[in-house]
Amino acid sequence: MTVATILSRAQFGMDSPPVRVDVHVGGGLPQFSIVGLAATAVRESRDRVRAALVSTGFRFPDGRVTVNLSPADLPKEGGRFDLAVALGVLAAAGSLPQERLAGCEFFGELSLAGELRPFHGALPACLHATREGHAVVVPAANEREAGVVRDARVAGARGLLDVCLHLRGERPLAFGCGTLVPPPAYRGVDLADVRGQADARRALEVAAAGGHSLLFIGPPGAGKSMLAARLPGILPPLADDEALEAASVQSLGRDLPPVEHWRLRPFRAPHHTTSAIALIGGGGRPRPGEISLAHHGVLFLDEFPEFARDVLEALREPLETGCVHISRAARQASFPARFQLVAAMNPCPCGYHGDESGRCRCPRAFVERYVGRISGPLVDRIDLHVPVARLKYASLGGAAPGESSAVVAARVAAARERQLARGGLNAALAPAVLEDAVRMPADTRRLFGVAVEKFGLSARSCHRVLRVARTIADLAGVDDVGNVEVGEALRYRRLDRGGG
Ligand SMILES: Nc1ncnc2c1ncn2[C@@H]1O[C@H](COP(=O)(O)OP(=O)(O)OP(=O)(O)O)[C@@H](O)[C@H]1O
Ligand SMILES: [Mg+2]
Repeated sequence: MTVATILSRAQFGMDSPPVRVDVHVGGGLPQFSIVGLAATAVRESRDRVRAALVSTGFRFPDGRVTVNLSPADLPKEGGRFDLAVALGVLAAAGSLPQERLAGCEFFGELSLAGELRPFHGALPACLHATREGHAVVVPAANEREAGVVRDARVAGARGLLDVCLHLRGERPLAFGCGTLVPPPAYRGVDLADVRGQADARRALEVAAAGGHSLLFIGPPGAGKSMLAARLPGILPPLADDEALEAASVQSLGRDLPPVEHWRLRPFRAPHHTTSAIALIGGGGRPRPGEISLAHHGVLFLDEFPEFARDVLEALREPLETGCVHISRAARQASFPARFQLVAAMNPCPCGYHGDESGRCRCPRAFVERYVGRISGPLVDRIDLHVPVARLKYASLGGAAPGESSAVVAARVAAARERQLARGGLNAALAPAVLEDAVRMPADTRRLFGVAVEKFGLSARSCHRVLRVARTIADLAGVDDVGNVEVGEALRYRRLDRGGG
């Protein structure tokens, strides 16, 4: 046998397309080449593979060794193909039985001593391989992550030697799969720490219940950042498929949490100096941005107007579609980005506009320009605009602690159940089904019409008011949306009414 084929997979966006590693060993002067649109790290694989084979006790074949990674037009990156290349060389040289390689995919970067190093993207690779009915061999450090896939056949190996002994039938690897564990008890910050601020707490609960985006506006130290950080604590844990999707993105983003934490909602809070690429995703080798790392979780943008304008504008499309497409000459990468946006801002450059103390000295034009940094279309896309006033000293010291996150989370969970029984979260209700989902008595309908005219709400804003009103009714456990619900939802459109 002079040609051997090993199966593996590349990674492009969320896609893990299959790659065949064909290795030919022939006569001629000693040479080792890798072809097939391989990036530098893949071409460097030659040196790692040669060293790893020798360290493991094999003889590197004499003559010409050619490795072809196909399809040739697919970009290939990283050290993930090392194991497949090494096995291909051995199989082509006749040191491994070909037939045992079939139906199995191999991944992992080799050290010079022949140990297997973990690679990024083991979870999506295993998801795709399992869908095709293939077993998977990964570095031992990736085994837990890949093994979470339902019905997967995954084996972890510590080094090249383990894999070779398995393929020769001398010491078989154990193939199996694990499961997603239940979420650990929530141990983050608790809502009970927040004193007073009843309106802002209520808005946070409404946002959590319906999956709505939210903007807090208020003076420094009012508790905006504090409230936002407590949103993940009142959201229900992720379901199986949500947890796998979120973890798949994170495994590409280089900061995959341990499997025990996969059901916790992601919470991402990028700094306001973050670039558009870091927020949205991209780069020569497309990587997920913060909005995708926050998939199924919370994206918190503190000091909202301080973000560069182009960065904020780039948010508009994913906010609407729940995904990002990044076009590259070779192909298009897509990442999911269904996140819940929470933003916080001061009402003016000094931060105290509208404060009772009257200490704000910002000219009116400054205030308008500051609020204007967030464009109309972006404001339009945020469901709840919530003023957070400075807390009175009496409330800070004397008030009894507020409800705990666990109590609020129970109400949120009940409201979400009502929505899921209807088919999905209110924040994502399509305009076409809004009519059906939001039934209003005639006088509420009339009042709503008057308010829309008075505040000059756009069609998109109207839909948002209706969705929020639906959530408020779901929290109350009622079927129809009445004056109370619509009234509260309208109060959350403060910026549409020119309020700064
Ligand atoms: N409602 C509150 N209950 C208890 N502590 C509070 C409250 N509001 C503010 N604090 C205290 O003030 C600190 C600052 O609050 P926080 O960072 O949330 O303010 P902020 O509104 O985000 O201000 P900035 O506009 O400066 O970002 C908190 O860490 C907390 O100690
Ligand atoms: Mg803050």
